[in-house]
Amino acid sequence: MMFESAQGMKIVVRTNGPYIVSGGVPLARGEIVVNDAGESVAWREIERVPTGETYALCRCGKSGNKPLCDGSHFADGFDGTETAERAPYTEQASCTNGPGLKLLDARQLCAEARFCDRAGGLWNLINRCDEPGVSDLADEEAALCPSGRYVTCDAVTGEPHEPALEPSIWLIEDPSLGVSGALWVRGGIPIVSEDGTPYEVRNRVTLCRCGESKNKPFCDGSHIAAVFDGR
Ligand code: FES
Repeated sequence: MMFESAQGMKIVVRTNGPYIVSGGVPLARGEIVVNDAGESVAWREIERVPTGETYALCRCGKSGNKPLCDGSHFADGFDGTETAERAPYTEQASCTNGPGLKLLDARQLCAEARFCDRAGGLWNLINRCDEPGVSDLADEEAALCPSGRYVTCDAVTGEPHEPALEPSIWLIEDPSLGVSGALWVRGGIPIVSEDGTPYEVRNRVTLCRCGESKNKPFCDGSHIAAVFDGR
């Protein structure tokens, strides 16, 4: 399920250091919007963050100049070892077939943004896609997932239902929990490991910026327990 690469843009993971972003990738701050029940329902862009053509984003969570790196990873002895699986998403994901729609789920990529909880949960919705409006809601919940943990596909053709996203990086804020979240890499920006190996190009990826993930370079939701403040 390779996604078309955003032309000229790249993110390189530095050994025990920052993410080097090149190619003029737009940077923005955005937040998870919740409904009255506290369920995640939408994204809201808060502001654009000015950057140069190339910039270094903090990966250890300790910079005094967030979101940019200020070299704090040296003093802190940051261990940024990449431990994430490198198999393609479709090999990592489980598959659930519902009526007309199938759901792929790679649990280990979860960034705990909680868009899959609404209306009884995406896992239940997928089995009820023959009921009015349910298929659209399942597609919506999956598409709002920033990490790309979830992908819904046409059950017959296998065509993935990916949202159109401007190639950009969002600094996630999660105000209902009072924490900052991952770097949301949107729109197929290639990510290259510290050893030079490219990760699979995907439309939605979340990179850890708190330094606490056990699935580096990807976010695993550890920023919540860490009460990470990325501002
Ligand atoms: S930002 Fe989510 S685990 Fe670090």
